[in-house]
Amino acid sequence: MKVSLFKDERTLARTLAGQIAQALAEKPDLVLGLPTGRTPIRLYHELGSMHAKGQIDFARATTFNLDEFLGIPSSHPGSYRSFMQQHLFSRVNLSPQRINIPNGTASDPAAECARYERAIADAGGIDLQLLGIGTNGHIGFNEPARELAGTTHRVALKASTRHSNAALFGGDERQVPEEALSMGMATIMHARRIVLIATGKSKARCIQRLVHGPITPKLPASFLQMHRRVELMLDETAASALDA
Ligand code: PGA
Repeated sequence: MKVSLFKDERTLARTLAGQIAQALAEKPDLVLGLPTGRTPIRLYHELGSMHAKGQIDFARATTFNLDEFLGIPSSHPGSYRSFMQQHLFSRVNLSPQRINIPNGTASDPAAECARYERAIADAGGIDLQLLGIGTNGHIGFNEPARELAGTTHRVALKASTRHSNAALFGGDERQVPEEALSMGMATIMHARRIVLIATGKSKARCIQRLVHGPITPKLPASFLQMHRRVELMLDETAASALDA
């Protein structure tokens, strides 16, 4: 695993935005996997300002988000679709037909999961998967468990995850949906290139376990150790528990 350190979040976001612009210049029909959460917000705004300056073109790109809450419409202000609209989609020239997010109101969630996997395959697979990491080591909504799901699946959210998403629901974690649809570990591991970003002291421990710990479903992100082309982009506080 390549580990890259940045002095602050801003430098990290700028560097990664530049790499995404370069990847799009090399392959305009790039397939990008996208996370939500606090961590990528700065990156998304950076991509938006690069777009405003004519420095990045998403016209032919396709995106697949990692996950979505189950049981709320995409128009709900707490949905990940709304989050993406606010922070990225409204700021760049992605074609709406090539934006993909699991449908949290599908009448048959299992069929929706199968459809999502097919859509990724039909797009040629994910070229560059961006990831955040939960303090408990989750990626997407692949929560620590005895077993991990391979493909896109329905998942019950942990109390800690609902707590950390409360801000999207007026600060009330009881309003956070109890379930979600998420890409699985194999969906993520099949991406050709993965970049995980983590910032802040609260991530130091899970980053330490991700880099130095055993590969275990108790820390889903630890499976990234087996990927051929993965980079961790960290600020100094997220990297503070790593061996020098
Ligand atoms: P965060 O979430 O960026 O808000 O810390 C990351 C995650 O849970 O994947």
